[in-house]
Formats: sequence, C-alpha cells, structure tokens
Amino acid sequence: MAFPKWVSLIFIAIVIMPLPISSNQSLSPEEELAQIPVLFLEYAKRQDLFDRMVSIRRKIHENPELCYEELETSKLIRAELDRLGIHYKYPLAETGVVGFVGTGGPPFVAIRADMDALAMQEIVEWEHKSKIPGKMHGCGHDAHVAMLLGAASILQEHRHQLQGTVVLVFQPAEEGCAGAKKMLEEGALEHVSAIFALHVAGEHPIGSVASRPGPILAASGFFEAVISGKGGHAAIPQHTIDPILAASNVIVSLQHLVSREADPLDSQVVTVGKFQGGGAFNVIPDSVTIGGTFRAFSKESFVQLRQRIKEVITGQASVQRCNATVLFNEIEKPFYPVTVNDKDLHDFFGKVAGDLLGPRNVFEKQPLMGAEDFSFYQEVIPGYFFFLGMKNDSQGQYKPGHSPDFRVNEDVLPYGAAFHASLATRYLLENQPKSTSMSDQKKKSTSTKGNFHDEL
Ligand SMILES: *[C@@H]1O[C@H](CO)[C@@H](O)[C@H](O)[C@H]1NC(C)=O
Ligand SMILES: *[C@@H]1O[C@H](CO)[C@@H](O)[C@H](O)[C@H]1NC(C)=O
Ligand SMILES: *[C@@H]1O[C@H](CO)[C@@H](O)[C@H](O)[C@H]1NC(C)=O
Ligand SMILES: [Zn+2]
Ligand SMILES: [Zn+2]
Repeated sequence: MAFPKWVSLIFIAIVIMPLPISSNQSLSPEEELAQIPVLFLEYAKRQDLFDRMVSIRRKIHENPELCYEELETSKLIRAELDRLGIHYKYPLAETGVVGFVGTGGPPFVAIRADMDALAMQEIVEWEHKSKIPGKMHGCGHDAHVAMLLGAASILQEHRHQLQGTVVLVFQPAEEGCAGAKKMLEEGALEHVSAIFALHVAGEHPIGSVASRPGPILAASGFFEAVISGKGGHAAIPQHTIDPILAASNVIVSLQHLVSREADPLDSQVVTVGKFQGGGAFNVIPDSVTIGGTFRAFSKESFVQLRQRIKEVITGQASVQRCNATVLFNEIEKPFYPVTVNDKDLHDFFGKVAGDLLGPRNVFEKQPLMGAEDFSFYQEVIPGYFFFLGMKNDSQGQYKPGHSPDFRVNEDVLPYGAAFHASLATRYLLENQPKSTSMSDQKKKSTSTKGNFHDEL
C-alpha cells in the first residue's frame, strides 16, 4: 500500500516547521503528532475545564428543548463562545450555531454536536433532573454540546497552532426532524472538507471508543396508513367491511417483506408501532390507522422497502375489500440516509484514537439499526461517526439512549472534548493543501495569526 503524496509532504513540512503544540524538538514528526491528543486529554481533564463542562451539561439537562425549539440551549452556546472570544454564525436552521477557530483559511474541518432532547419523562431522581415534564435529554445530546464547547475552549487556547480552520457545528433537531439537512441547506459546511461527530455509549467502557468503516447506522423512514372499510354492528359482520381484520392482515403481510423478500444477509427492519382503531367492544369501526418505521443498510434496499410497504398495504387492504392510503410524511419526518463512515477517515481516526487511549481501547463496532441525521453531512463530504464509551461498572448500569432512566457518566466529558479537538487539529495538520509551497504556508500561518475574526 503506497502512501499518498501528501503524507511525505506533511512529514517534510513538520521537519521544516516543528509543530508548536508540543514544541519538543527531540521528538520525531510522528511522535509530535502523537503528542497532540495526549496533551489535549490532559488539558481537558484540568479541573477548571472539567467543572465548566459539567456545569454546562447540567444546565442543558435541566432545561431540555425539542426539535427546532432549542432557544435557551442555543443562547447558552453563544454565551460560551462569546466568553471564549470565538466568532460564530447564528442562526442556522432556527437555533443552530456555527463557530470558527483558527486561521480563517483552508483547510476547514468540522466537528459537530446535536442539541435537542426527547419527548419523554425522566425517571432518574437527582439534583439536576429535567425541570420540564415530558421532556428529557435521554440521548446525551446535553453532554455532546458540553464536550464540543470543551473542545472549543481547547482549540481557542491553541488557535495560533491550528493550520487551518475548525468549524464548530451546533445542530438542532437530530431526533427525527433532520436538523442536519437544514444546517446543510443553510451553508453550515461551506468549504469544509471533512466532519466528525461522536455519540456517548453506555455499553462501551469509559476510556474506549468504537466505530467501523462503511455503513454503521441504518437509513430510516416512517409510514402511516389509513385503512378504511365500513363500520357497523359487531354481531352483523356481513353488513360491514371490517378494517380491523384488514389491518391485522396488512401487519402480518408487512412482516414477510423482511422474512421472505429481503436478502437474509442484508439487514432490514419493518416495525408497526402504531395501531389505532375502534373504541367499543360491539362496534366495527369505519377505519383503522397504522404506522411504523422501516430501516435498511443501503439506499437500494431502502427504496425497495418503501415501494413494497406501499404495495403490500394497499394490496392486502383490497383483499379484504378495504381502501388504504399510505403516507410517508417526509416533510415532517424526513428519511434519514445510511450513516456511512469514510474509509480514509476511519484509518485516520484509528491513529488519533490509538494515540489518545491506546490502541487496545479502540474497538470495531457492529452496525446498528438506529439512525442518525449525521448521514446527511456524509452524503456531501467525507464524515466519521463514532461511539464514545462511558460504562463504569462501579457506578451502576448506564442504560441505552431513549430509556427513561438514561444517565450520562460525566467523567466522559474530557474524553469527548479531547477527541473533538485532537481529530480537528490533526486533520488540519495532515491535510494541508498540496499546491501551497512550504514557504507560502509559513508566511500564511504567521500573517493570519490572530486576525481571523475579521476575515469571517
Ligand atoms: C521531549 O520528549 C522526550 C521523549 O519523550 C522526553 O524524554 C523529554 O523529557 C521531552 N522534553 C520536553 C522538554 O518535554
Ligand atoms: C374504496 O374506494 C372506491 C373508489 O373511490 C369506493 O367506491 C369504495 O366505496 C371504497 N370502499 C371503501 C370500503 O371505502
Ligand atoms: C469509575 O468509577 C469509580 C468510582 O466512581 C472511579 O473511582 C473511577 O475513577 C472510575 N473510572 C474511570 C476510568 O473513570
Ligand atoms: Zn436519540
Ligand atoms: Zn442521539
């Protein structure tokens, strides 16, 4: 396997201009790069930064906000960026914020946090429990915001050593509303050549990460169907057309899509989670509404599944003399594409993660049928999504996301901040533009020092 040209170019660049982050002249270029994550983790674990991240996370946790309503969360993010002296754009996608740290010039690399909570009730009794009934940060996005702000602080502290620009993406509405899509439409990733994001994970030990190249999370969509018949007396079925029975057959037939039509080695899901119809023991209702979700790991399988769901519902309903209308409701609940990790970024991530945690704490992840709107970014530029472990058996069980007793292990915050900052810094160092000569680079990095605020 030959190394791309830029690798040797970077090594030359490093020999000529030692990386100032560790400024240890006796280290080789590789050792110098390897030092960055170690130093950033030490920095992120410092008491003042740790306390700050914990306090931000708890504030957001107490006041969870849903899709596109993240006004207070957004305000808190902007206040922290102001405090750090970081320039930002606002609003994008209603409540989104995009910050900039570094030279203001290329290359640009993005690190992303989602901001929204879930419509569910927290059952954990603790001092900073959600103050809003029926809303909860049950997926850890409060921690994601705190970690990205922690990274912002580390990066701003080292801004003169950044060889390019880090774009801090604070994104609303991950949970079903496709905030990422809207952020993209409003230009959040202009000039950006790669993007990284993490998700806290209670099933992996703290101090470890897990991910994989290629597809890691599924494409996801929702459907809703109204099956209409003819209501009447439950004891005189011959004068009715029973939509309950028709809907029952529809649901059974839908299960055959995955069991009989899909390749057993190509994972797919069809789940009917909603079944509404009738209200009396002795009345056959006029209509029944069913709804559910479908998942697949490739665009082709996803499109095929969508088509067959529609055909099966209408076809099976008509077998029972009912009519059916099927809606995919893409405006309100857009389809999420497959989350596909870029293979080169996977190799890059492996190196940085190995330097940060030691190679034996970097795990290969099995794909999950869950979905992420991070996939929208990956449709446009190379992106990388990984899971950050927070399990600590001496602190009890950490439940999966979306559980009412979900908890975040706050010890994870420094790891997340160090990961964001290290991935961004190293990406910039290792992806300098090929065309620029070394002396130009040197000139640029000194001449733009400190005045990037005016440029953006
Ligand atoms: C530079 O790195 C070497 C090798 O890791 C170490 O022994 C030395 O103490 C470092 N020097 C400074 C000034 O950090
Ligand atoms: C189904 O639609 C057809 C055409 O609109 C209509 O004639 C029929 O009455 C409908 N059947 C039911 C059960 O609603
Ligand atoms: C796990 O939890 C225990 C008890 O709170 C703590 O002492 C220890 O440092 C934690 N381990 C890690 C790796 O955070
Ligand atoms: Zn979630
Ligand atoms: Zn989430």
